[in-house]
Amino acid sequence: MGPEFKVTPWEVSGDIDYDILVERFGTSHIDESLKDRLAGYGEMHPLLRRNVFYSHRDLPWLLDRYDKGQSFFMYTGRGPSGHTHLGHLMPWIFAKHLQDLFGANIYFQLTDDEKFLFRQDLELSDTRSMAYENALDFLALGFDPEKTRIILDTECIHSLYPLALKVSKKITFSTAKAVFGFDNSTNIGSIFYTSIQAAPCYLESDREGKQVPCLIPCGIDQDPHFRVARDVAPGLGYPKPALIYNKMFPGLEGGDKMSSSNPDATIYTTDKPKTVKRKVGKAFTGGCVSADEQREKGGNPEICAIFKYNYFLFEDDDSKLDELTARCRSGDILCGECKAELSAKINTFLESHQAKREEAREFIDQVSFDGFRW
Ligand code: TRP
Repeated sequence: MGPEFKVTPWEVSGDIDYDILVERFGTSHIDESLKDRLAGYGEMHPLLRRNVFYSHRDLPWLLDRYDKGQSFFMYTGRGPSGHTHLGHLMPWIFAKHLQDLFGANIYFQLTDDEKFLFRQDLELSDTRSMAYENALDFLALGFDPEKTRIILDTECIHSLYPLALKVSKKITFSTAKAVFGFDNSTNIGSIFYTSIQAAPCYLESDREGKQVPCLIPCGIDQDPHFRVARDVAPGLGYPKPALIYNKMFPGLEGGDKMSSSNPDATIYTTDKPKTVKRKVGKAFTGGCVSADEQREKGGNPEICAIFKYNYFLFEDDDSKLDELTARCRSGDILCGECKAELSAKINTFLESHQAKREEAREFIDQVSFDGFRW
């Protein structure tokens, strides 16, 4: 066993070693040549340049097909258990970039069923209303309405069910137990659920009656689902979905994953400027106990949550990031100033995001899959 950390679709804990995770899951690294190849379709996205999107399955295969004129579609999703936070937004931001580059259709699955089944404290009415809120955040990122469809599981089940059934017939209980850690006390809805998450992978192949490749940008914690979805695909006559995985977005408390179980270390898209300031103000940094000591010894950006936020989402310019690193290490910039700068950047982003979120209310029904209404 490697270091103690856990990454599953339901739980992420400990100090994640992302290289070991690739080995455990059996995914591949996105190496420099694959990065360059991707950059050849447009600009190199900072999340790719900085290896936040760092692992994949079958990406070169998908690109080979694309180069030969075979288009693909994309699929990603969200389990609506609460408000959207910055960590959720990250893969969607990248997905929007991919849609721009490749002109691909994208399906966004909101698993109100999943969160109802896995969370004792949530009713279907709760997960549905959160799904609506999460969908607004997704749409606020500017996806092309002509090429984007929102799937709400309980509303779109008639389209998903035939596919989910085919998947479920190929997965035994012992596979589900081995992959997801279920036992005899697991409710039977949870055991079936992975077949619902697999279904959209084959949606366009099924509708078009031909093999249409699928690309899924998402957090690497979702890999267990897609391992299963890939295993059953050939037996159903569908191509295996390709994946592009990101690392988890860090929490403000210094942990490896931003998590709603610690709301004070989590920035929600609906947070007010004052709230952002307060949360960022309390963040874990790589600073010293006193200002004097820090001026003398400098800080440590490597362990600093504020630095990670700049690295992941809020400072795209490499030279500015290098300058910040140098100023931190030399003790030239102290944590208070750095926090104030980050709060300002986050609030600028959220102000515009929140406005676009409101606009999305106007067209959300037009982009629902199968034409359901919220
Ligand atoms: N299980 C995911 C979650 O809890 C939701 C989800 C459904 C998803 N389909 C997906 C995530 C496809 C990524 C890609 O958030």
